[in-house]
Amino acid sequence: MKGIILAGGSGTRLYPLTRVLSKQLIPVYDKPMIYYPLSVLMLAGIQDILIISTPRDLCQFQELFADGSHLGISISYAEQPAPEGLAQAFVIGKDFIGSDNVALILGDNIFFGSGFSRVLEECSSLSEGGLIFGYPVRDPERYGVVEFDDDNKVVGIEEKPAHPKSKFAVPGLYFYDNDVIAIAENIKPSPRGELEITDVNMEYLRRGKLRVQPLSRGFCWLDTGTHESLQQASSYVQAVQDRQGLKVACIEEIAYNHGYIDSAQMEKLANDMLKNQYGQYLMEIIAETKAGSIFS
Ligand code: DAU
Repeated sequence: MKGIILAGGSGTRLYPLTRVLSKQLIPVYDKPMIYYPLSVLMLAGIQDILIISTPRDLCQFQELFADGSHLGISISYAEQPAPEGLAQAFVIGKDFIGSDNVALILGDNIFFGSGFSRVLEECSSLSEGGLIFGYPVRDPERYGVVEFDDDNKVVGIEEKPAHPKSKFAVPGLYFYDNDVIAIAENIKPSPRGELEITDVNMEYLRRGKLRVQPLSRGFCWLDTGTHESLQQASSYVQAVQDRQGLKVACIEEIAYNHGYIDSAQMEKLANDMLKNQYGQYLMEIIAETKAGSIFS
């Protein structure tokens, strides 16, 4: 399965923070925001990843990740000239996807929770149809919202409904078979002028091929759309990391634990940052793995 991170958009809601910097590069506690969605794709076992961003910002992502080989993965890049909708990712990424299945994750979505790696591995072995998630939130009107019938069967998805039919929002992580390219090419822009991911999901639903997997209340899906939620996301990551001494979304650690890189390469990555806590953490991971840590 291939993976796409959509990291474009104008980011105007976070001005002046994002006036000259991509939203997905601003820090969430101790790392750039895009580390979090990248870590999700890596945890799913996806090693071939396309980052889509604006003509202005793309070069900064390239500078940050290059071709990804230092992490044992392949990262390529494509421009989205204007923010014309999430579903446009599949049109822009058509050649990259080829005949494979694909996962799309939004560059500003943060996921964290026990057992998530297992869920992700299952999702990435999807053979047919579409797979999305449902997560209960206090303010569903800000998102795509799932509608259920009396038997809890999914009967609809609405984009930012004024009167949501459930509390279940659709997070920005989607798994599809290869039909998604043709579906995205055939949907029409919505009244707000975007190719909506909700229209893609509705097409899979109409075909009887959409699975909506609920994410339990202990699971964490964080939004970074406002200054408040961005601050909360940073505080959350800080609290979890301080308590456990384990990092959230440490892409080097994931690459190492998945065997994408060996200890020599991990040490090389750590050496660049030895003066700070991040580099020291990478060294600790190597030492603990050698000593047979139960968390490795
Ligand atoms: O966060 C989950 C929600 O994401 C879903 O529940 C909704 O169904 C989905 O439409 C989307 O809603 P948002 O209102 O959050 O979408 P937004 O326009 O804010 O874009 C989400 C991110 O994707 C944002 O970081 C900017 C980026 N983006 C957006 C568009 C429209 C792009 O890179 N390109 C685009 O064309």
